[in-house]
Amino acid sequence: EDGALWGGRFASGPSPELLKLSKSTQFDWVLAQYDIRGSKAHASALAAAGYLSETELADMRAALDELSARVADGRFVAAEADEDVHSALERGLIEITGVQLGGKLRAGRSRNDQIATLVRMYLLDHAAVIGEMLVELAGAIHAQAVAHVGAILPGRTHLQHAQPVLLAHQLAAHAWPIVRDLERLRDWARRASASPYGGGALAGSSLGLDPRLVATELGLGDPLENSIDGTAARDVVAEFAFITAQIGIDLSRLSEEIILWNTKEFGFVRLHDGYSTGSSIMPQKKNPDIAELARGKSGRLIGNLTGLLATLKAMPLAYNRDLQEDKEPVFDSVEQLEVLLPAFTGMVATMRFDTDRMAELAPQGFSLATDVAEWLVKQGVIFRDAHEISGELVRYCEERGLELHEPSDEELLSVSEHLLPGVRDVLTIEGSVNSRVGAGGTAQVRVTEQLAKLAERLTEF
Ligand code: ARG
Repeated sequence: EDGALWGGRFASGPSPELLKLSKSTQFDWVLAQYDIRGSKAHASALAAAGYLSETELADMRAALDELSARVADGRFVAAEADEDVHSALERGLIEITGVQLGGKLRAGRSRNDQIATLVRMYLLDHAAVIGEMLVELAGAIHAQAVAHVGAILPGRTHLQHAQPVLLAHQLAAHAWPIVRDLERLRDWARRASASPYGGGALAGSSLGLDPRLVATELGLGDPLENSIDGTAARDVVAEFAFITAQIGIDLSRLSEEIILWNTKEFGFVRLHDGYSTGSSIMPQKKNPDIAELARGKSGRLIGNLTGLLATLKAMPLAYNRDLQEDKEPVFDSVEQLEVLLPAFTGMVATMRFDTDRMAELAPQGFSLATDVAEWLVKQGVIFRDAHEISGELVRYCEERGLELHEPSDEELLSVSEHLLPGVRDVLTIEGSVNSRVGAGGTAQVRVTEQLAKLAERLTEF
């Protein structure tokens, strides 16, 4: 008995080259405990339909528990000849029960409905782990925002100075996408919880097994309506890969800012020694490697998604062996995020901002020109003209090396009759920031509300 799950109709065994190609235990072993849980549930369904006696069921379930223990402590491992985790575990079960009992378990199921179910169970568990890590990260961002609630940041578009904003507003802008990622994981979990078990190879079972029994024991929701769909679809896996890619992208955008802010030229942030790295040749270097790894891994996460989508494209129904290629990319995405997120959160939680530096740079680059235009609108000037006048004032100042608040009353009037001395009231950073009281704006009062809302949202997950 070599443990293969097929062979009756073959005159010869598989070639060594085929075995090497076909083998998946090196990556699907992480599904072993899910496979055993599925088998226990399946045994109960077999017993309920009369294919196992009460004692056989008890013996089978006890043997599966024993197998689970052997897998957990490494007494049972995949052998060279095992094609996949399912084959290996059947071999392990039969070692415990003998073939008379162990050989009954496979009735009414296929590796096709098994694998489709197990990958969902694995991803659901890891979605919960990643979700907790995301809550931690968003919490660390929130804490930095709260700790710097009055600090000013030169807000940018096109990476150019645009308008001053609160640092807390910008930080919170990195937290909200994470809240949406958490929502995505929650929405996804509803779809992922449907159970393919019972679909068999593709056509369903003739043995009168109740797939609801299995789904309930596995903590899943309703069985899927269509056995072909259940065994052949992997959109749930692709969607999960998308969510992890989006998380990577969200981290990469904050990473890029941290990398820039951490340069000598910006000087906005300093990373904690424990969360930065040195250079093997340049003694002075302190590098933002965590942010760079996050930026780099986001490419890898996108690659995992696109590779999987390419595998799925135009694949005919139902199961094809191509589907075995779904696992490595999505397992990799899980592993990468689970190692990245704690380090990333530590970096965010411990970074220190130079708020004086940010406040000093905030008014530079004529970042209050919009405030001049909006002041003019409040004086009754139409916006087209106001934009023009404010632009002329910028040009006037730029040519003379002045900041916007520096021209004299006469100089202001020489640019436009509408530029009365009162305009200087809006030419302070605090005045500018705190005038943006519209919903979602950067005024202190709005940002304080926003941070409370953010903290409240994080308690949902
Ligand atoms: N290891 C396969 C996978 O990951 C499941 C086995 C299905 N094999 C088969 N010949 N139908 O998709």
